[in-house]
Amino acid sequence: MTIEGTMNKQEQKEVLVEACGLSKSYAWGNPWLHNNKKSQALLNVSLKVIKGSILAVVGESGSGKSTLARMLVLHEKPDAGSILLDGMDVIKMLPEQLCGFRPQMQLMHQDASTSFNPRFNAVECVEEPLLIKGVKQIDRHKLALESMELSGLTGQFADRSPLELSRGQRQRLAIARVLVLKPKLIIFDESLSGLDLLTQSHIVRLLLDLRQRYDLTYVFISHDLSLMGDIAERIAVMKDGGIVEEQESTHLFSAPQHVETCKLLSAVPRMSQPREPGHRLALQEGSL
Ligand SMILES: Nc1ncnc2c1ncn2[C@@H]1O[C@H](COP(=O)(O)OP(=O)(O)O)[C@@H](O)[C@H]1O
Ligand SMILES: [Mg+2]
Repeated sequence: MTIEGTMNKQEQKEVLVEACGLSKSYAWGNPWLHNNKKSQALLNVSLKVIKGSILAVVGESGSGKSTLARMLVLHEKPDAGSILLDGMDVIKMLPEQLCGFRPQMQLMHQDASTSFNPRFNAVECVEEPLLIKGVKQIDRHKLALESMELSGLTGQFADRSPLELSRGQRQRLAIARVLVLKPKLIIFDESLSGLDLLTQSHIVRLLLDLRQRYDLTYVFISHDLSLMGDIAERIAVMKDGGIVEEQESTHLFSAPQHVETCKLLSAVPRMSQPREPGHRLALQEGSL
């Protein structure tokens, strides 16, 4: 094998997810009233997510971030394009082949409570995805308790209703619920939004710790560029269904290339000054 061939193979090995030319449009309106319309939620989006890395996807509301997230975790199929997971084209797979791949890619929403069955207690909520997977009850319970423990919820929370938990505890429960499936990739769609700063910093630290321990790969969807600058290695900026810029975080802040990036940066006054990565987390740690 040539040196070039070896390097290509190495590069290939490091990519967990590779999306190529993803497009998705939605029809809306009332065809009976002849006002049916089409919105292009994604247009020709390509991106790579490197194994073990953190990628942030930022952009104004309606730019297509959540649509991209749903495509990447296979909740919906794109109209066009391909998604390779570990080099395997998951879009072309048959439903029965996909069963083994779906748990590897998990999506967490901003308000985790919407994904919990209100009739279940906390540990049952974590067990639920294992039940769907066909895991035996005794194993389910043990795995769910372990996952809760890893997420910072001790056994005393097992019998509690998710509705009785604080917002931060519910996010921990949601983390336990995705973690129990042993995913490779977790996409957090605004999952850190709406938390008070202290809880947010605790959750971020937990996620960074779990990433190291379990070799996880994260995609954070957020409007908080400041926080993303602290935790993500690369940042992709979306506008009107496309990625207009993707760069290493530090470069994005010091030398933004696209007018949309400049617009997002100017909307965060404190970002006008260059700073060290981890600055905000360090501040929060100091204030604990
Ligand atoms: N199920 C849907 N039906 C119709 N339009 C949709 C649907 N999902 C998303 N869209 C449209 O696609 C565009 C991108 O939406 P979304 O991905 O939710 O953006 P973001 O997460 O960046 O706010 C928006 O114009 C939105 O209205
Ligand atoms: Mg969204």
